[in-house]
Amino acid sequence: MVSFKEIGLVNSREIFAKAFNGRYAIPAFNFNNMEQMQAIIQACVETKSPVILQISSGARKYANQTLLRYMAQGAVEYAKELGCNIPIVLHLDHGDSFELCKSCIEFGFSSVMIDGSHLPYDQNVELTKKVVEYAHQFDVTVEGELGVLAGVEDDVVAEKSNYTRPEEVEDFVKKTGVDSLAISIGTSHGANKFKPEQCTRDANGVLLPPPLRFDILEEIEKRIPGFPIVLHGSSSVPQDQVAKINQYGGAIKDAVGIPEDQLRQAAKSAVCKVNIDSDGRLAMTAAVREVLANSPAEFDPRKYLGPARDSLKNLYMHKVKNVLGSDNKA
Ligand code: G3H
Ligand code: 13P
Ligand code: ZN
Repeated sequence: MVSFKEIGLVNSREIFAKAFNGRYAIPAFNFNNMEQMQAIIQACVETKSPVILQISSGARKYANQTLLRYMAQGAVEYAKELGCNIPIVLHLDHGDSFELCKSCIEFGFSSVMIDGSHLPYDQNVELTKKVVEYAHQFDVTVEGELGVLAGVEDDVVAEKSNYTRPEEVEDFVKKTGVDSLAISIGTSHGANKFKPEQCTRDANGVLLPPPLRFDILEEIEKRIPGFPIVLHGSSSVPQDQVAKINQYGGAIKDAVGIPEDQLRQAAKSAVCKVNIDSDGRLAMTAAVREVLANSPAEFDPRKYLGPARDSLKNLYMHKVKNVLGSDNKA
């Protein structure tokens, strides 16, 4: 058993309270490899932002959980070396079982998500409560979820979203004891969040997604005042990155994300954590494709992963400063 405190991590309790009162949101960036982790830490140190490093079960399978955990421990030291001891949370993204959450807690994670959103309500309550009771013994914070997002998470594909039912949130929070709640108000996982037929087009033919359901968010805020809310599926799918990927041989069609002005508005509400993964994937892929297309003889991975890391860092700094408002809050 390793306590997250021994390795310099923090849980989400205090940073969420500050984010709630300060009307900003904490970035939760997924990582699977060293370059992503470096870019996240560089960006958040430079902007002096707290950060949540997220590991999905797909990431655990891809990179090995031991390596990722030591990378997070390394991230704490790396941030200090770069000159700012920012609060860093190590969070399990979309945990799907009690055993997985327990194993991550024993391994030094400071926060876990138990995603029972696909289960019937009572089973979601039961599973979430079990994880909370275990996690709180070690001061690890827990995120639960009510409502289903459309899109792809790990191997689960949800065809249709089910918005969170505001009438359930108070009971869920009370019965489970969760520390934060992920809700479904129209965000979606992946780079193709909406089908073209769900969107309208602006004068330039750019796809505009259906607006987020701020009315549902407001209703939820009324029922659980002061409680930290989480938004998954919050990539904005920058069209310049999609265009660059396609310009250099990619084939990404009809990609559409959540407009940044809507995320900015959400960050000023009870939303304290915003999950972003796909935008990083797009930025990294665009940079790698550009280098390889322009320098076909290049075969040193540092020559394409380095520019990919720089592009990621710029993206994360932009999110922190211009979308979430968590800069200078470390
Ligand atoms: O919500 C899903 C995250 O983007 C993680 O994706 O399961 O492919 O690592 P992944
Ligand atoms: P995106 O696919 O929109 O980046 O969402 C990521 C996410 O919700 C991770 O849990
Ligand atoms: Zn998610």
